[in-house]
Amino acid sequence: MSEAVRLVEVGARDGLQNEARSLPASVRAGLIERLADAGLTHIEAGAFVSPRWVPQMAGTDQVLARLPKRPGLTYSVLVPNERGLSAALAAGASEVAVFTAASEAFNQRNINCSIAESLARFEPVLAQARAQGVPVRGYVSCVLGCPYQGDVPVAQVVRAASGLARLGCHEISLGDTIGAGVPSAVRQLLSACATELPLDQLAVHFHDTQGMAVANCLAALEQGVRVFDSSVSGLGGCPYSPGATGNVASEELVYLFEGLGLNTGVDLDRLVAAGDFVDRHLGRATQSRVARARHAANTTINSEKT
Ligand code: HMG
Ligand code: MG
Repeated sequence: MSEAVRLVEVGARDGLQNEARSLPASVRAGLIERLADAGLTHIEAGAFVSPRWVPQMAGTDQVLARLPKRPGLTYSVLVPNERGLSAALAAGASEVAVFTAASEAFNQRNINCSIAESLARFEPVLAQARAQGVPVRGYVSCVLGCPYQGDVPVAQVVRAASGLARLGCHEISLGDTIGAGVPSAVRQLLSACATELPLDQLAVHFHDTQGMAVANCLAALEQGVRVFDSSVSGLGGCPYSPGATGNVASEELVYLFEGLGLNTGVDLDRLVAAGDFVDRHLGRATQSRVARARHAANTTINSEKT
């Protein structure tokens, strides 16, 4: 059995929250079912945030209600506060995620409070989730740059990530929200974080704004990270990060890791089909080069048959 890496599929949340067209719960659930059928075991299903701030995530309770519960399959949702947690628990989420930032300016615009206030807000969220036996993931945004503040000192990332770990987050995802990083910066960041946190508690979350996301994932892999956030078809962005594009495409990571002999447990053809499904509903073209290459190869094979 080859060594394993784990993908956390965030397309139905991080991706769809930034698409101009809001998709109904039935289509969002249809996407998530297809992702699960492709072999993804950790899927973000939505967010219990203000529908005024992020209208695309309204109806996350209806999405969860439609999803088949299967052993070994985790449906996670973002919650910014206790109200979000109550809604997530009532809807049957199997994991929740809290989110803060390494940049004060970004945190204010994203969740309307300082970093310290957000950590204080999360304290009762983690206590209640623990009491219900629901694991909590933590996100730190702007780990390699901020759209409002520019450079972000590594020490601020380490402080925010350690704060989330102290509260009890089982996994901390480091988000390059604006896709500013390059591999050397990723290595520096992970080395700094590893002085305070075990590497197996860290995940990475790269947006692909400058086309560096795959290279950054490889750098993180070489540093010892084994959990990677990605979006099918490269869906995504962040509504509070102007100009940020989608997450690294899940198809690219499956192709990369399987090519390196690492087991993802994901069937690439089914994953591409899940991306085609959501792209049809959004009226967009895939941002995944792997998906594009497969489409082109299938077109050639079919034209040779006729
Ligand atoms: P606020 O204005 O400070 O708080 O917003 P509030 O308590 O005054 O509430 C404002 C409104 O939200 C009220 O409704 C509340 O009822 C409602 P209104 O009076 O306007 O009708 N409300 C809620 N509604 C539903 N669910 C809730 C909830 N709480 C309050 N849980 C708040 C604070 C956090 C609510 C707001 O700022 C918010 O919802 N922000 C959402 C931010 C967001 O979702 N951003 C995108 C996700 S983060 C991300 O993408 C980065 C990541 O991918 C990593 C990376 O790439 O870096 C994770
Ligand atoms: Mg993101």
